[in-house]
Amino acid sequence: MQIPEAFKEKMRGLLNDEDYEKLMSSYDGTVNKGIRTNTLKCTPEEMARKTPFELEPVDWCPTGYYIDSDIRPGKNPAYYAGLYYVQEPTAMTSAEALAPEPGDWVLDLCAAPGGKSTQLACMLGGQGLLVANELVNNRAEILASNVERMGVPNALLFNEFPERLAARFRERFDKILVDAPCSGEGMFRKDNGAAEEWNPERVLHCAKRQIKILESVDKLLKPGGVMVYSTCTFSPEENEQVIEDFLGNDRYELMDIDLGGLNDRGRPEWSEKGTPALTKTLHVMPFHVRGEGHFIAKLRKTAECPPEEEALRLKRKSRLKPAGRRELGDYEVFAEEYLNRRFNNLHLQGDQLYSLPEGITLKDIEGLKVLRPGIHLGTLKKNRFEPSHTLAMVLKPEDFKTVYTVKDDEEAYTYLKGEPITGADLKGWVLVCFEKWPLGFGKASQGMIKNHFPKGLRIRKK
Ligand SMILES: C[S@@+](CC[C@H](N)C(=O)[O-])C[C@H]1O[C@@H](n2cnc3c(N)ncnc32)[C@H](O)[C@@H]1O
Repeated sequence: MQIPEAFKEKMRGLLNDEDYEKLMSSYDGTVNKGIRTNTLKCTPEEMARKTPFELEPVDWCPTGYYIDSDIRPGKNPAYYAGLYYVQEPTAMTSAEALAPEPGDWVLDLCAAPGGKSTQLACMLGGQGLLVANELVNNRAEILASNVERMGVPNALLFNEFPERLAARFRERFDKILVDAPCSGEGMFRKDNGAAEEWNPERVLHCAKRQIKILESVDKLLKPGGVMVYSTCTFSPEENEQVIEDFLGNDRYELMDIDLGGLNDRGRPEWSEKGTPALTKTLHVMPFHVRGEGHFIAKLRKTAECPPEEEALRLKRKSRLKPAGRRELGDYEVFAEEYLNRRFNNLHLQGDQLYSLPEGITLKDIEGLKVLRPGIHLGTLKKNRFEPSHTLAMVLKPEDFKTVYTVKDDEEAYTYLKGEPITGADLKGWVLVCFEKWPLGFGKASQGMIKNHFPKGLRIRKK
């Protein structure tokens, strides 16, 4: 791997000789891979029973595990059933540090592909609200797909600029995670492109962008609320210096971070003013732990923001509207026939039916670019309702009246490849499950379950 000379030079200046040598030799090692249990669906023990590979606990995340670097964990029925999320172990630190509680309103501002969002969703346990936002369009779709696979029931997804979210959700969040776009120095081993793209100007450009993002975060967080700022880079310009700059607004105090075994503290001497409290921030360096590297700062907001001089106007037209009783006729027929669970706050976007999270109204989302306004329940077709894959992933077997449990892994692969399942004496919509975990829908007639697993997700081979 080619490590940029200017980066080496910079790190040699920052680290002592021993740490510098360790950092350089860490680039010869293999990437640390991890998975994290989706506790919305199962316990770590249940997950371990369904994963055919060795798991080794990650010290700072009770639901995180190292897996061998040769393993391809995305090739498994348990993966498609959403029992775990594949996540680099040091990336598990940010959400652990934020530690939201059920009922909180939580914002993940820079969310794709969704590792931390889905981790925050687990901590909320379906209660409260998770707003996950991703600015970059194609990354936003990946976020939506991961949130879907994990069966998150209380998420609202946006594809927005932070300042536009701030114009609507002023001081409304209890907890905010800002996993900022950064120069990715902790990604060199995982993604050689990050090393190729690195240069000192990029670091400064990232730092400017991070400062701007934090201005919006300030407007979004409730007084008394808590935020975590994280990056996967080592550069002081994007870490200590960004936090020191942010503290300049006099509305925040740094909080201690207590995460199993991690105590490589932020360095005041790497900042411009040498703010002593920066020792409360945390570096997670690849030469101290088994992982690629992260930086985390946790801050509490101690005072309200000053009034806005000129509020940003959100003009985008919304196609979402409350679903009327007449429009819902076919859905009600479906719900009566198949569902043992009620969905509320129903809204339509064209013929697409959504259940918005509790406490969210049209007023909250009008004018913003919404990626998913809640649970996508399905499509109102001519004289019938067709349930969506998202609905299947949110359900538990007891929520649906017709369930088919695949006989074994072989049959799970048959379903995941998009093939029909034969020999089931069922009729109508069927929730196809891998043990007690839904894989998706099928439609049964004459001894066969026709496959409704989305075409774009199907696997080609085991
Ligand atoms: C480090 S990644 C987030 C990783 C994610 N938290 C996870 O755990 O899967 C940072 C994200 O910020 C997005 N981003 C880029 N520019 C942004 C901006 N100006 N404001 C907010 N987010 C931005 C990037 O597209 C990227 O997906």
